[in-house]
Amino acid sequence: MKLWKTFYLIGCLSFICWTAVLCYLFVHKPNTIKYVFKYEEVNKEVDVLENELRQQLKSNEVLLMTLKNIRQQIIKTGKDIKHILAENPSALSLDRTLSINKDPIICVLLFACNRVTVKRNLDQLLKYRPNPRNFPIVVSQDCGHEPTRRVIQSYGDQVTLIRQPDLSDIPGLVGKAKKFKGYYKISRHYGWALNQTFHVLNYDTVLIVEDDLDIAPDFFEYFRALYPLLKTDPTLYCISAWNDNGKEGLVSNEPDLLYRSDFFPGLGWMLTKDIWIEFQTTWPKAFWDDWIREPSQRKGRACIRPEMSRAKTFGKIGVSNGLFYEKHLKYIKLNEQSVPFTQINLTYLLKENYDVLWVKKVYGSPSVTLQQLQGSDIPSEGSIRVTYSTKEGYKKTAKALGLMDDFKSGVPRTGYRGVVTFMHKGRRIYLAPPPSWREYDITWR
Ligand SMILES: *[C@@H]1O[C@H](CO)[C@@H](O)[C@H](O)[C@H]1NC(C)=O
Ligand SMILES: *[C@@H]1O[C@H](CO)[C@@H](O)[C@H](O)[C@H]1NC(C)=O
Repeated sequence: MKLWKTFYLIGCLSFICWTAVLCYLFVHKPNTIKYVFKYEEVNKEVDVLENELRQQLKSNEVLLMTLKNIRQQIIKTGKDIKHILAENPSALSLDRTLSINKDPIICVLLFACNRVTVKRNLDQLLKYRPNPRNFPIVVSQDCGHEPTRRVIQSYGDQVTLIRQPDLSDIPGLVGKAKKFKGYYKISRHYGWALNQTFHVLNYDTVLIVEDDLDIAPDFFEYFRALYPLLKTDPTLYCISAWNDNGKEGLVSNEPDLLYRSDFFPGLGWMLTKDIWIEFQTTWPKAFWDDWIREPSQRKGRACIRPEMSRAKTFGKIGVSNGLFYEKHLKYIKLNEQSVPFTQINLTYLLKENYDVLWVKKVYGSPSVTLQQLQGSDIPSEGSIRVTYSTKEGYKKTAKALGLMDDFKSGVPRTGYRGVVTFMHKGRRIYLAPPPSWREYDITWR
């Protein structure tokens, strides 16, 4: 009984403290309010605060409800709280699920620099977004390119423009590193803009897009539907719109098909403030995407990615070389049929459900060699598995079947538990390590 009382007291105290802190912030808010004169901007600030207050109230209610429930059980059964929680872990996961905001605000953060073609992306974002309230758009511009700034500003208050103040050269780059200066600037810009959106504009969830992306009509529906999963499943650290092997012929025409991926895909992806707080202090000076893929950042976590990409890059002139675009990115198939993802039960993607099904599907498929597959010497229907045991074996098969053949921190593109899946001549293939697989070998590159 005593333990329960302490628990209840802590609950009430944190509620009171939160309310006090929020009221204080609401009244003071010195840095922002003082310098903002435009009515709409003040309005936006108030909206953000209002949303925070509402979210906080909601999660306090849930906390209170859970506590009351626990009290009921303690009174009924006479057991102490530890027993009750141990017997009923679903009480905790239920709490996790209930506390998810049913009406989330997801900030779309668009990175721009010196390409006026940012217009193409902005037009699509504005065309497809269901409403401005749930998906406010922030454009962050680096590079100080005037024509690009004018394009962004021509959208008026449909978008919020923030500008990277540090346009200085990257100091201290010598020799080979000089060639990669663009990547250093991008990383610096990302770090600054993410800090702005999470800490200054105070958003809780950010959806990152770049100025050279085309998006699918159900782009927003997809991210909205996967938001609860990202918030519930601690083994996820991102939601991505991108399939690295999403070329025509390698994907099946199943736009509702989604996967978990140990490989961080990037290119139209969503993260939460919790993850940013993990990343913010050690954010790298360059190559931020490969850094996110390293074990010390990934920590065994996965992303969700679609079978058919919801984003596709259209630009060839950029920092990364045009050859990669011509050879590969150009052929990625952008989804065209909208899927009502928010109406679909997506709990199968939670790790505890997904892994069991995944292993059954992959290792329940008959195994053939690459030669047999290429010679169509295979069972007449159903999915098929091709095994690889070495890095060279993987690369050879991947090349032969038109897949990306590289590894980052030992993980092949789109891989989940070492398995890469794709279509070949209309058949579902799993390129998989032996069933005894335990972990990635980070020396594979
Ligand atoms: C973001 O802000 C935090 C807190 O002020 C700071 O510690 C961190 O270095 C910043 N990160 C980047 C990448 O600017
Ligand atoms: C969603 O599907 C799972 C099985 O994967 C089931 O247990 C759960 O009850 C379903 N939820 C709803 C709301 O239908």
